[in-house]
Amino acid sequence: MNVSLLDLKAQNGALEPELQEAFLRVVRSGHFILGPEVERFERALAEFTGAKHVVGVSSGTDAILVALMALGIGPGDEVICPSFTFFATAGCVARVGAKPVFVDSCPVCFNLDLRDVARKITVRTKAIVPVHLFGQAAEMDGLLELSRAHGLRVIEDAAQALGATYRGRQVGTMGDCGTISFFPTKNLGALGDAGAVLTNDAALYERAKILRMHGMEPKYHHALVGGCFRLDALQAAMLSVKLPHFNGYTAKRRGNAALYAELLGKLPGVRTARAEDCGCAIEAKMEEKARIVLPVAYAQNGHIWNQYTLRVIGAGQREALRAHLTSRGIGSEIYYPVPLHEQKCFAELGYRAEEIPWAHRLAGEAISVPIYPEIPAGEIEQVCAAIGEFLTR
Ligand SMILES: Cc1ncc(COP(=O)(O)O)c(C=O)c1O
Repeated sequence: MNVSLLDLKAQNGALEPELQEAFLRVVRSGHFILGPEVERFERALAEFTGAKHVVGVSSGTDAILVALMALGIGPGDEVICPSFTFFATAGCVARVGAKPVFVDSCPVCFNLDLRDVARKITVRTKAIVPVHLFGQAAEMDGLLELSRAHGLRVIEDAAQALGATYRGRQVGTMGDCGTISFFPTKNLGALGDAGAVLTNDAALYERAKILRMHGMEPKYHHALVGGCFRLDALQAAMLSVKLPHFNGYTAKRRGNAALYAELLGKLPGVRTARAEDCGCAIEAKMEEKARIVLPVAYAQNGHIWNQYTLRVIGAGQREALRAHLTSRGIGSEIYYPVPLHEQKCFAELGYRAEEIPWAHRLAGEAISVPIYPEIPAGEIEQVCAAIGEFLTR
């Protein structure tokens, strides 16, 4: 039987009566952009995350853009972000005319390496954008300490990590702003594009709200240049139906991660990443005797497992594993095959591939396997059996 990487129909199908009811409510209201549905969802998300303010926007990408604009970041400014992340993190920095400064990532938690952040702070640095990659929080205490010491702003790119915690605090609520994506494959997925900006700062909240509507306040008066970053009422209504189920989805993802750890951990050549090897905290001196390294959730973190990402050690081994999984009808994905410092559009920044060594290496080793909440345990067993076959052939 085939195992797909994702099955969005399983989750949304189970909620069909409620989604239909919400859809009809919006259709009959005649109010399709912002308005009461959006405000209701913003309040629910604020309550869920503990953020003082939430601004619903058109996507996770636009959430980053709005946050950067609200903070007044632009030409002449440098913004530090990881190289091993989705493009939007740095794409938005470039779009406001600032310079993305790429830092390395930790091979254990996949998040930005604070030692490299410290090295790359200059007089032009205005902000740091930590990404809580794959659903696990970055090392926020150290990062906030660095930002305070240098007077820098922090935008948490929590696109993949709604609901994840760091020492009991929700991601997206620790920096100046947090940005969330509701892309359908995210842990809280809309039925189209949607996103949100979280902030505890009343002034940033006001600016973000104005910026999402062309910088217009009052009507047809523009003190700021904003954009069309509004959230649709339909998407807000769909998200309001799904938010109460979110903790249930997270529990299932955690169960799936635990099953992978148990089954894969028994295979020869597999080891679990060790928190003590974390490049964020100490020099990473990992002796790679293993062929596959399993991800780890740090004790201080509530990981929400947006992805279950393995490292496959050795040149060409990740591609060989992927081909093997494909031959067995098992879906997988490579997040991300090219680190941002090696992307053509950033060539003018002049980075050499090996200059950011872990980002370069992780791009060749990482592979994500199916972990969506509704996946049957038998399918996870199938994935693990196929990986076992790969390791013993
Ligand atoms: C780390 C990260 N940042 C930003 C985004 C952008 O979110 P969206 O696709 O909703 O624009 C994503 C989405 O994949 C992401 O993974």
